[in-house]
Amino acid sequence: MPQSTRRALIGAGLAGGAALVVGCDDATEPEAAPTPTPTPTSSAPPELDPADWASVRAQFPLDTSMAQFAAFVLSPHTVPVDAAIDRYRSLLGADTEQALLDGYDLEDKVRAAAAQFAGGAAGQYALTDSTTMGLGIIYGGLALTPRDEVLSTTHDFVSTEDSLRLLTLRTGAKVRRVTLYDDPASATVDEMVDRLVAGVTPRTRVVAITWVHSSTGVRTPVREIADALPDGVLLCVDGVHGFAAVDVDLPDLGCDFLSTGTHKWLFGPRGTGIVWGANWGPLTEIIPSFSPQSPAGRMTPGGYHSFEHRWALADGFAFQQSIGRSAVVGRTVEQASRLKEGLAGTAVTVITPADPAVSAGIVCVDVPGMPPANAVLTLREQGIVTSATPYATSYLRLGPSIVTNPDEVDAAVEAVRSLVQV
Ligand SMILES: Cc1ncc(COP(=O)(O)O)c(C=O)c1O
Repeated sequence: MPQSTRRALIGAGLAGGAALVVGCDDATEPEAAPTPTPTPTSSAPPELDPADWASVRAQFPLDTSMAQFAAFVLSPHTVPVDAAIDRYRSLLGADTEQALLDGYDLEDKVRAAAAQFAGGAAGQYALTDSTTMGLGIIYGGLALTPRDEVLSTTHDFVSTEDSLRLLTLRTGAKVRRVTLYDDPASATVDEMVDRLVAGVTPRTRVVAITWVHSSTGVRTPVREIADALPDGVLLCVDGVHGFAAVDVDLPDLGCDFLSTGTHKWLFGPRGTGIVWGANWGPLTEIIPSFSPQSPAGRMTPGGYHSFEHRWALADGFAFQQSIGRSAVVGRTVEQASRLKEGLAGTAVTVITPADPAVSAGIVCVDVPGMPPANAVLTLREQGIVTSATPYATSYLRLGPSIVTNPDEVDAAVEAVRSLVQV
């Protein structure tokens, strides 16, 4: 992209992660699908040593001359995921009809892999193309009346906000919003739970929240919120910046529905995602399904898709599983803490809480006297790739992960500090 175009996009908040400013009854594990014959890929993947972070990093074709703190925005793929996509593309190209027939089993394999990675049963996972599609499925599929209320917050991304606008248009239900914290850096579990619960009225039927706010990096206490809500109120979550960045099984969160892309912190194939449903009962599908025999299939939008990406999601989960969810999350959180500690007490302001109990991988920073878009460009010139948050109040945002390392975090600390002329 020409620098001028890139500059214009960033100025508008549209680049580098600011993509837009703007009762389960099939819970049994599916039978293993026949493994398709692999076709050779042009570059052999370097062998993965899951205990060696340099080896993990080498599985990504990312430019190693840059420190990639914005990779979580849209998966750069791993070599194994790209190899799986190539393999499935070859199968679709060689005998499309047979590949599509095999595809039903391959989708079940993806659901089984999701359940192995994130808990629950395979039948609790509907397959989507993105977090946004999943939120549309959740909020578009709820039956509400004009007497009902949805309780949401002032911190959510446009995908939740606009889904709720459409829900209001469709059903006449009202949306109320509460602010969970005034100062993100000092947000606490108790304050967030109390403020949310104070917004519940006898008419509240649904609570719509986001697990980790991409505006501030604050992680909301989903479990504690679930426990504090009255019986019968559905808790729905945009989970995208918590999924694969927080070490928890989805059923343990206590929510009813969670939508997440699998093309951010999981580093699965681009254009993939899941909706996890504790129980599909409250939802009616809004897009006709091609596999309506099971509830999870019914909630999976039909139509032909870029199936090579969808089927390769099983390989994305397998990659994470080979390292281990807790190790991956530990690596992310350790670096996020190092970054926040390094910037604490300097001339920049860390917006994200230092406490890992109310944060995850996202670290937002306010650089006094410098618009975030300019900070992004200046850092890029120093080999540090970051992004600006796509919200009315925008911050510089870094996402340490398995594609970065502590040395790069230290370099980022120095570079961010030097943005402020003292
Ligand atoms: C909180 C949040 N939800 C959803 C999205 C969109 O995710 P997807 O591209 O998977 O729809 C983003 C950013 O891209 C986000 O920050």
